[in-house]
Amino acid sequence: MPKILIKTPKEIERIRDCGALVAETLAKAGEMCKPGVSTQEIDDFVREFTIKSGAIPACLGYKGYPKSVCISVNDVVTHGIPDSYVLKDGDIANIDITSILNGYHADSSETFFIGKPAKNASELVDTSRQCLFEAIKACELPNARFSDIGAIINGITEEHDFSVVRDYCGHGIGRAFHEEPQVLHYRQRFPGPKIEQGMVFTIEPMINEGSYKVKVLSDGWTAVTVDGKLSAQWEHTVAITPHGVEILTLVR
Ligand code: MF3
Ligand code: CO
Ligand code: CO
Repeated sequence: MPKILIKTPKEIERIRDCGALVAETLAKAGEMCKPGVSTQEIDDFVREFTIKSGAIPACLGYKGYPKSVCISVNDVVTHGIPDSYVLKDGDIANIDITSILNGYHADSSETFFIGKPAKNASELVDTSRQCLFEAIKACELPNARFSDIGAIINGITEEHDFSVVRDYCGHGIGRAFHEEPQVLHYRQRFPGPKIEQGMVFTIEPMINEGSYKVKVLSDGWTAVTVDGKLSAQWEHTVAITPHGVEILTLVR
């Protein structure tokens, strides 16, 4: 099994710098989430702002991905490709940004409301956000393991009768976009590896209103719910430091 890389404080500093840029870009992209704005306009902003800031949009060209950001609207679970679609009142849109700054990646996403959300949409988005933050907190409990993350998220999700997507996971991150370990967001039968100092990884639960099952469209990227119901996701890049768990993708 490939190894989970342990990062030095200097490397974590690099990822934190990149994370601050990702967070700033994401906040600005979120402000664009209004009725009448196309997802392509948001992609243009993310690409231009990232490059102007001295960074590289990590998604552009990654395994052939055609755009600079993923925007997943309503029943799109993940990897939505920006296009001429115009956001409308009542939509929910996950914007997922990964940048490379000075050789290091940082990755974060948020689900935004367009105009006024319906009650079911707002409960789903709030729950997926709560899943992320409770899972982050669990990383600094004594003897925390990666399998604790899925247990917590699965528990919260069940209280709301929602489901956890199984086909996509969080990941180690650093010089590479996706490293070991795979961070699973659903309950495991066996304990996972220990969460240890120097590890840097993402947690990015995708929570569905109905079935957890997804299918990928013929573009090879866009993953949608099989039942057409809503999906929401939140993501941060975190580091395990001597002081506990630190979110690296925050505005500063
Ligand atoms: N940002 C996504 C993640 O959280 C990965 C997007 S890969 C892309 O891991 F190619 F679609 F951009
Ligand atoms: Co991401
Ligand atoms: Co990620």
